[in-house]
Amino acid sequence: MKIKEGVYWVGVKDPKLRIFDVIMQAEAGTTYNSYLILGNEKVALVDTVKASFRDEFFKKIEEIIPIEKIDYIILNHLEPDHSGALPYILEKTKARVVISKNAQVILKELLHRDINPMLVGDGNSISLGDKTLEFIQAPFLHWPDTMFTYLVEDSILFPCDFLGCHYCDENSIFNDETLDFSFSFKHYFFTIMRPFKEYSLQAIKKIENKKIEIVAPSHGPILRNDPWKYINLYREWSTPKKKDYKKAVIFYASPYGGTAAMAQNIAKGLMDNGIVTEIFDLSGTGIDETIIDIIEESDALIVGSSTINGDAIKPVWILLASLATISLRNKIGFAFGTYAWSGEAAKMIENRMKDLKMKVPEPFLRAQMVPTEEDLQKSYEVGKRLAEVIKSSS
Ligand code: FEO
Repeated sequence: MKIKEGVYWVGVKDPKLRIFDVIMQAEAGTTYNSYLILGNEKVALVDTVKASFRDEFFKKIEEIIPIEKIDYIILNHLEPDHSGALPYILEKTKARVVISKNAQVILKELLHRDINPMLVGDGNSISLGDKTLEFIQAPFLHWPDTMFTYLVEDSILFPCDFLGCHYCDENSIFNDETLDFSFSFKHYFFTIMRPFKEYSLQAIKKIENKKIEIVAPSHGPILRNDPWKYINLYREWSTPKKKDYKKAVIFYASPYGGTAAMAQNIAKGLMDNGIVTEIFDLSGTGIDETIIDIIEESDALIVGSSTINGDAIKPVWILLASLATISLRNKIGFAFGTYAWSGEAAKMIENRMKDLKMKVPEPFLRAQMVPTEEDLQKSYEVGKRLAEVIKSSS
């Protein structure tokens, strides 16, 4: 499929996919986009496809050029949905593999051998004769290895996952020839790119002065109609929301009300000291996008659980297992809860928060059986102290 003179889409479609990477909803399937660029001297392939689609992929390339004629295989990102076919294509060509500096170790582990790749970053380019490929370091979008490739003469940006989406139209690969895919586009950003908003803004800054007529991502439609609309959506979604207050959110699981009472007193300590505080009983709260939004906008995440049979209660673990799509760096964590005899839950929650690299300034707080007035006062006092930490946090 020709995109521009000498530039071809040679990707594959996976319209029946409904779950990507085990966890991500893909209600409209996906595509694994790969691009063949024919210069008048050299040939480059940008990204490959998932290994299981390699035969279809190779056939598409061979319809345009023999695979052994490829001089460069540029991998903007080494996740297997884009690098899976690499070991197989390397059996057919002596092409030089081009990757970002951050991808070197990952490539070695992918192939289990060192193939002496060309390492590129900002300011590096490759000439294909009448076409030039420039490289833009764009790490953590969404792996450390990610980079963009820019085809200067045709004003095409190849940003791999960035600006992509899981969406497959079996009849077209172009955004101006398909139905509305805005849900998929937004869902992809908020599932994959959301923890990396700072990196997203840094990358946009690097491309904002470039002439970009087409964005050719590695999943979903090629954005040839109004590509800047999509870049600007990423800019909008990545820009921190201005708020003139500090906020904490408390979740608790409390079969007999003791942990709930502690939660209310922690909340009071926070509120009395200037922290906007929201509180959720996990027995009536599902973890959906709205809840994730609230956690993301909060400066502190406070979680309480009673202990049942030496463990925290299941909804607490569901909550703590649902945070992968937001950045927890700089977020303050605190754990608490009641118990009858052993009381492991609060410590387990605290450990999980530390493992997630949250800041945990106060040790967990527990109360045995029914919290006493002293326990509730301690809860209030810890809320007060947390308020001071939250107010001084960046
Ligand atoms: Fe589409 Fe991060 O791979």
